[in-house]
Amino acid sequence: MEQDKVVIFDTTLRDGEQSPGCSMNLTEKLAVAKQLEKLGVDVIEAGFPVSSPGDFESVKMIAEAITESTVCGLARATKKDIEACGEALKGAKKARIHTFIATSPIHMEYKLKMSPDEVVKRAVESIKLAKTYTDDVEFSCEDASRSEIPFLCRIVEAAIDAGATTINLPDTVGYAVPWEFGKFVKAVIDGTPNSDKAVFSVHCHNDLGMAVANSLDAVHHGARQIEVALNGIGERAGNTSLEEIVMALETRKDELHCTTGINTKEIYRSCRLVSQTTNMPIPANKAIIGRNAFLHESGIHQDGVLKKKETYEIMNPASIGISVENLVLGKHSGRHAFHVRMKELGFDLEGDALLNAFEDFKKLCDRKKEVLDDDLIALVDAQMATADDSYEFDHLYVFTGTDLTSTATLGVKVDDEVKEIATLADGPVDAACKAVEEILGPQYRGAFDMHSYRIEAITGGTDAQAEVNIKVSYKDKTFNGHGLSTSILEASAKSYLNAINKAVNWDQMNHKKEED
Ligand code: KIV
Ligand code: ZN
Repeated sequence: MEQDKVVIFDTTLRDGEQSPGCSMNLTEKLAVAKQLEKLGVDVIEAGFPVSSPGDFESVKMIAEAITESTVCGLARATKKDIEACGEALKGAKKARIHTFIATSPIHMEYKLKMSPDEVVKRAVESIKLAKTYTDDVEFSCEDASRSEIPFLCRIVEAAIDAGATTINLPDTVGYAVPWEFGKFVKAVIDGTPNSDKAVFSVHCHNDLGMAVANSLDAVHHGARQIEVALNGIGERAGNTSLEEIVMALETRKDELHCTTGINTKEIYRSCRLVSQTTNMPIPANKAIIGRNAFLHESGIHQDGVLKKKETYEIMNPASIGISVENLVLGKHSGRHAFHVRMKELGFDLEGDALLNAFEDFKKLCDRKKEVLDDDLIALVDAQMATADDSYEFDHLYVFTGTDLTSTATLGVKVDDEVKEIATLADGPVDAACKAVEEILGPQYRGAFDMHSYRIEAITGGTDAQAEVNIKVSYKDKTFNGHGLSTSILEASAKSYLNAINKAVNWDQMNHKKEED
C-alpha cells in the first residue's frame, strides 16, 4: 500500500522553550536547530520573534544557518507580530510564518474580547500581510478543540482563500480524547469547501497524557502535519513527543500507512542534546528513549529475547541511534581510531574540535580504564556546553573530611591567565562553588542561587565519569550548568562555573544593550 508523507513540524525551540525551566541561550538554540536539521524535520519553529529581542535574534540566526529544513516564526494575528516575524526570517532559504488567533467561544469572549466576525477579519488580514513576506503561511485556530465546528469551517475557508497553505487545529489545553479528536479533524476537513488547497495539521498538548494518541488519530483521519517537540517538552505537560510519534508511525506502518522524512538514527542523539541543554532529565521509563526502554529484567523476557529478539522487542535500539556495539577505546587508541568511532557515533569532528576532543579523550584514558561510547558522547556534549565560556576551569584541589571544614583551591583561566583562589565552607561542593564566585569578583559574591543539583554516572564502575547538571538563578533568570569529570567535585565546580558563565554573558549583553 502507498505510504503518505506526514510533515514533521518541530516546536522544541518555541513551545518547548517557553515551558518553565527550558529556556536556552542563542548558542544552545543554534546547536539544537542544527541537530533538528540533521534529524530531518521538515519545519523548525525557531521562536516567537516579537516576544523579545533575544527571540528575534535567535530566529534570525537560525534562519540564516539552516538550509534543508523550513524555518518558521510564530506571530499573533497582528501587524506588529507579523512584521517582526517577516523581518527575522528574511535570511531564510525556506521561510514560514505561523500566525494564530483563538477561535473558541471562551477565548474570543474573555481573552480577545472580539466577535467571531472580527476574528475572521483579523485572521484574513494577517494571512494577507504574512503572504507579502513568504508564500508559506500557516494559520492556527488556537483552542480549536473547544471551538464550534461550523465556525472553524468558516474561518478555515477564509484563511485558505487568503493564502494559508497549512491549517493547524491545536488542542491547546490538552482536552481532547483520541476517538473524538480524529473525527473532529475530519469534520473540519470535510466541512471546508477548499480544504484540498491546504495541508491540515494538529498541535496537541499533553495535559491528559493523550497528545501522541490524539495526533495519531488525527493522522488516521486526514491530518498530514504533526507539531511535535523533542522529549515532548512544551507548555505545562508538554507537546506531542517527536520520538514517540515518529516511531509509532514507523513501527505501525501496517496500520497507519504513513511515513516521515525523519532519520530515526538521529533520535537518541537529538533527545539527549535537548535534555542536556534544557536540564530536563529523561525519565528511565520514557517511551523510546528512556534508559529502561530496551532493557529486559524479568527472566522470562530475557530468555525470550536471547532466543529471538522480536519475542519482546518491537523496535531495534540501533534504529533510533542507540549504540549496541559499545566499542571500547583506551590509552592505546590513536587519533584515527578515535575520529572513526566519533563519526560512527554521529559526530563529524574536524580541526580544533577534533583536537580538543581527542585531548579530552586522552586525559580520560588516564583516569578511566575503558572508555565506552557513552563516555565519548558525554565528552563532546561537555565541550559543546562550555563552547562560549570566558571563564575556563583549570584545576581544583579540595581538602575535606568528616568533622572538618572543607577547603577548595580553584584555578580558572580568564584571557589566557590562570587565577587561583582558596575558600572555606562546610562541605566540599559548597567550597568549590564559593571559590567560583570569589574568582568573579565582589559584584557577584552571593548573587547566585543554586536551586537544582543533579548528578549521574555516565557508565557503570567506580571510575565512571560523573555528569553534574545544575540550575542557578540570577536576577530572576535561570541558567543551566553542565560539568563532566571522573571526580564529582570537579564535575560540580565545572557545572557551577558553566552556569555562571552563562549568567555573566547574559549580564554583559544586557548592559551593552542598555548602553546602546
Ligand atoms: O497550543 C497552541 O495552541 C499553540 C499555538 C500557538 C499553535 O501553541
Ligand atoms: Zn502549544
